[in-house]
Amino acid sequence: MSVHTENKKKVTTLQLKKMKQSGEKISMLTAYDFTTAQIIDAAGIDVVLVGDSASNTMMGNPTTLGITLDHMIHYGRSVVNATKRALVIVDMPFGTVSGNPMKSLDAAIRMMQETGADAIKIEGGLEIKDDVKKIIDAGIPVMAHLGLMPQSINKYGTYAIRGKDEVEAQKLMDDCLLMEELGAFGILLEKIPAKLATAISEKITIPTIGIGAGSGTDGQVLVIQDALGMNKEFSPKFLRRYADLNAIMTEATQHYIADVKAKNFPNENESY
Ligand code: KIV
Repeated sequence: MSVHTENKKKVTTLQLKKMKQSGEKISMLTAYDFTTAQIIDAAGIDVVLVGDSASNTMMGNPTTLGITLDHMIHYGRSVVNATKRALVIVDMPFGTVSGNPMKSLDAAIRMMQETGADAIKIEGGLEIKDDVKKIIDAGIPVMAHLGLMPQSINKYGTYAIRGKDEVEAQKLMDDCLLMEELGAFGILLEKIPAKLATAISEKITIPTIGIGAGSGTDGQVLVIQDALGMNKEFSPKFLRRYADLNAIMTEATQHYIADVKAKNFPNENESY
């Protein structure tokens, strides 16, 4: 399969804006470790997101609340070490950007310095306006995350679609415009009606990246474990599986076990 990989130059936030302007869709996947990041970077992905979904996928926590700044720095550094072309964005975890601009800036500086990432992503809108402004003013590129915000699961009590009623849709539009005004370089829109995501994407000049937000956003993102079919339990409507790694890994593991039990591995050629 041919993909758009001939341009080996490092992807920048400016390039993402140009992609929006030219109508070229932005591809983004999550990764949390060196090997996976190396594979998807070489495959030509535009953006690698070190999402706080690592709390679920890497640590087995029930929500994203259990991951700390130190954990995210560990995953972020691993991905940055592997990535040559893609833009790397690392999530600011729960509680690190929450209404205390100086504290938020300290956390954002630690994230940038200790991971070497290109940018950070922050969940929230108007409520964290001053934090976002402080961070962007310090020269740190910020992608905002609006719509369904998994870090607020205990506030809403559900992962259901957001922005369905007029009041919530208007707040979402206002938050997007605010983030653009503050200088965010992009906005991730999670699980909102396709029509609303399209309207936002047409109204703002910075790129939008959607997950469960239809085809009208400027790019798409998926959690890699979901996209590659490693996680059998998670089957939301928006998910398309591009492989069945669960079956492939299960079969390969069973094959290996059988070989070991049958004294069929290693053979003479595999021994010193
Ligand atoms: O943490 C994450 O993986 C995310 C998803 C919405 C892509 O933010």
